[in-house]
Amino acid sequence: MLRGKTVVLRPVRRSDLPHFLKWFNDPEVTQYLTFYLPMTEMAEEKYIEDLGTAKASINAPFVIEAIEGEDTKAIGTIGLHNINSKDHNAGFGIAIGDKRYWSRGYGTEAAALIIRYGFEQLNLNRINSSVIAFNERSARMHRKLGFVEEGIQRESIFKNGRYHDQIGFGLLRSEWKGT
Ligand SMILES: CC(C)(COP(=O)(O)OP(=O)(O)OC[C@H]1O[C@@H](n2cnc3c(N)ncnc32)[C@H](O)[C@@H]1OP(=O)(O)O)[C@@H](O)C(=O)NCCC(=O)NCCS
Repeated sequence: MLRGKTVVLRPVRRSDLPHFLKWFNDPEVTQYLTFYLPMTEMAEEKYIEDLGTAKASINAPFVIEAIEGEDTKAIGTIGLHNINSKDHNAGFGIAIGDKRYWSRGYGTEAAALIIRYGFEQLNLNRINSSVIAFNERSARMHRKLGFVEEGIQRESIFKNGRYHDQIGFGLLRSEWKGT
């Protein structure tokens, strides 16, 4: 469990399945993600079951909960994936699936918590990420967190009838501001 001022990051539970199905079948959310097929209950069940197997140890997924007084509310997911223990790097992914919680600072705080976890607990040296070029909110969040734009993968994603560029970002522990 990782606790910030406005969010808590906690492990995935079986009971998260209905949230995942809702969030990852919402086109307003998935327009920003590389998913493109309908997310089935079977696929989500398998994803959750697989978290209990050895191959899951290269991924560190969390559910983002917004702190609301004494209560918390599940609003999305975040994680480090493909954790590489030789080169000390991992990929970063985030989706706030409950759109009512967009643009209120939750994403930035959740990401800051997981970056700290990556550098201080997993001993990462580098975190990789990529953002579809029209996702200005996510690109802005990455820059604010200290990610450096390292290159453009031109026309690497096909969505809404055309190709889109992806922005490749990287954050090194040496340049991380500790936020
Ligand atoms: C991307 C995402 C994680 C950002 O989290 P968030 O809580 O909504 O964003 P924040 O409130 O922390 O704001 C991030 C920055 O974007 C800016 N921003 C907010 N809304 C914006 C908008 N509509 N367009 C452009 N920038 C916007 C904020 O002002 C802030 O920058 P600033 O502090 O320099 O002003 C979240 O919106 C989300 O999950 N979206 C859907 C899925 C997705 O895009 N995932 C990421 C894939 S790479």
